[in-house]
Amino acid sequence: MLAIKIIEKKRDKYPLTSDEINFFLNNYLNGNIPDYQMSALLMAIYFNGLNQEELFHFTNSMINSGELIKINNSEKFLIDKHSTGGVGDKTTIALVGLFGCFGIGEIKLSGKSLGHTGGTVDKFESIPNFKFPENKNQMIDMVNKIGSGIMGYSDKIVPLDKKIYALRDVTGTIESISLIASSIMSKKLAITSNGIILDIKVGSGAFMKNIEDAKELSQSMMNIGKNFGRKIVGVLTDMEQPLGFAVGNANEVIEAIETLKGNGPKDFSLLVNTIIGIGLLMAGKAQNIDEGKLLCENMIKTGKPIEHFKKFLEYTGGNPKITEDYSLLPMAKNKLEFKSKKEGYISQIQAENIGRATMIIGAGRSKIEDSIDYGVGINLTKKIGDKVNKGDILAVIQYNDDKNIPDSLRLLEEAYVFSDKKIPERDVIIEIQM
Ligand code: URA
Repeated sequence: MLAIKIIEKKRDKYPLTSDEINFFLNNYLNGNIPDYQMSALLMAIYFNGLNQEELFHFTNSMINSGELIKINNSEKFLIDKHSTGGVGDKTTIALVGLFGCFGIGEIKLSGKSLGHTGGTVDKFESIPNFKFPENKNQMIDMVNKIGSGIMGYSDKIVPLDKKIYALRDVTGTIESISLIASSIMSKKLAITSNGIILDIKVGSGAFMKNIEDAKELSQSMMNIGKNFGRKIVGVLTDMEQPLGFAVGNANEVIEAIETLKGNGPKDFSLLVNTIIGIGLLMAGKAQNIDEGKLLCENMIKTGKPIEHFKKFLEYTGGNPKITEDYSLLPMAKNKLEFKSKKEGYISQIQAENIGRATMIIGAGRSKIEDSIDYGVGINLTKKIGDKVNKGDILAVIQYNDDKNIPDSLRLLEEAYVFSDKKIPERDVIIEIQM
């Protein structure tokens, strides 16, 4: 088989066979096919896509490029909830407490923050002494002992994705639905789970800027999941504004815990309830999503979710503690109120701007090597639809170093748009695809 012939075939819009896909990907992984030929194939895929069968083989080859995390005989129904990345997304933190109450385990590999989007790994690591499992055996042990297992991405799992993603990043081929779908799904399918819930963010702060693209990505990922025999549900959710009020790390942990106590922001609480509702339906513990949501609301009233969350923390080894007043969490030294210069109804809060304003004060990374200042962040006080007067506080910046505060303020300034007319609140749940 010749790499050039495979590139030409895809360029000319002919579907590739499983042998051709395996040949190309395996030889790229072991260095026999150079970056320039892989770049050409990626560009051909960018323009011509992969059909369902090709996607299956492409994803399968990716999965088999590294280790698998196999959980045998878990007593719990295991759910892998994946978010395509947003601003203020602390859902995994809240879910681990809630799923636990229903005898469901949350299982997943989580990412670090990069660019304007936050990362679950950093949010958990803002809790002093929190330690993720360091390898697949520790992760499996965690699942066996407490029912849930979460750890950061490992180079040993789907190493081909890391190599291809780095190349896509510099060849203009990130934004291909086929490549995104196989990249995400290979990492989901390399781990045992009984159900996958995809939270596909849509809007200015998300990878998918419009609903059509988000639907296509969701369908594509769901087809892959179903072809591998997994139960899978896609939820399209709004990212035209940050999720909840807190954007950062430690402040997001606080918001997630408050949500477990029933004090969460309306949009975030609804998202969490909906995902739990879907999970309960998947696990056969509710007849439909609405019944699952109700069970979730009632569970929050019992106070058990926070106890489960603490159990999860205890297992992680370093004895991380959360007190009622959160005083053990890192806290920035300074606070700055960002006030409105205009009056009216808020019609936009550009999530990407808020994410960048938060990243540059130290809560995120512009490059993968950057370190994080866990106690800094931005707490919004208003959401789209709220009426504000001149001088009202729109957000509070919590910071340590004032070097980037002027730029952060400028990004905030540009994030807000006001209208004279009443603006409806935005619905966080756009569509559920089963
Ligand atoms: N996230 C991934 O893991 N892969 C992509 O290609 C895009 C987003």
